[in-house]
Amino acid sequence: MLKTPIIIVNFKTYKESTGDNAIKLAEICNKIAEETKTSIAVAAQSTDIYRIAKIVSMPVLSQHIDAISFGKNTGFLLPESVRQAGAEATLLNHSEHRLDFDVLKSSIERARQARLKTVVCAKNVEDAKKIASLNPDFIAVEPPELIGSNISVSEAKPEVISDAVKAIKSINNKIKVLCGAGIHNKDDVKKSIELGAEGILVASGVVKAENQESALRDLINGLS
Ligand code: G3P
Repeated sequence: MLKTPIIIVNFKTYKESTGDNAIKLAEICNKIAEETKTSIAVAAQSTDIYRIAKIVSMPVLSQHIDAISFGKNTGFLLPESVRQAGAEATLLNHSEHRLDFDVLKSSIERARQARLKTVVCAKNVEDAKKIASLNPDFIAVEPPELIGSNISVSEAKPEVISDAVKAIKSINNKIKVLCGAGIHNKDDVKKSIELGAEGILVASGVVKAENQESALRDLINGLS
């Protein structure tokens, strides 16, 4: 269950969050989630989902799924396989894995059929409006130019968050709005929530941190 307000840690394909390192970081995230009763989830590489889901109580997301069904397909990510590996949801259309609109539409449908919640990424407010018409469960607004930077979306482009929340909620107020890109401290999280986001996506601020545990503990202070 992706309870809001939520912090989703996107492991991407960083060395520090791959394979055995993914397990270690997932254990840290899970320990903090349980100790502080904060809603935290991790988006892992598909090959790490099963091992992580077996040992944590927090939700695990896939970073992508393909709009395919059972049958003659080779080298794709079947939604049902991701679900049975233990993922509860999937990211889709991340700036680093963009999908054509029609493919995104089919991917959301297939995720739903496989009982996966969808967290669809949008690069700006216009993109978010188009995506809202597909009725995903979450939309995460992430200006690509800020991803991986030390400048957070809430600091550099607060209007993108507030305008996206307004636009998305006016189309379907059931869609939960998250934001991400450059988020690296509790003030960035606090500001995002004040602007109307119901949670954040973070990657380098936690995965690449000198001390991953203290970096995540700092971020969750921004939720309260
Ligand atoms: O999905 C979240 C991610 O794209 C944000 O990256 O490194 O700016 O936290 P980062």
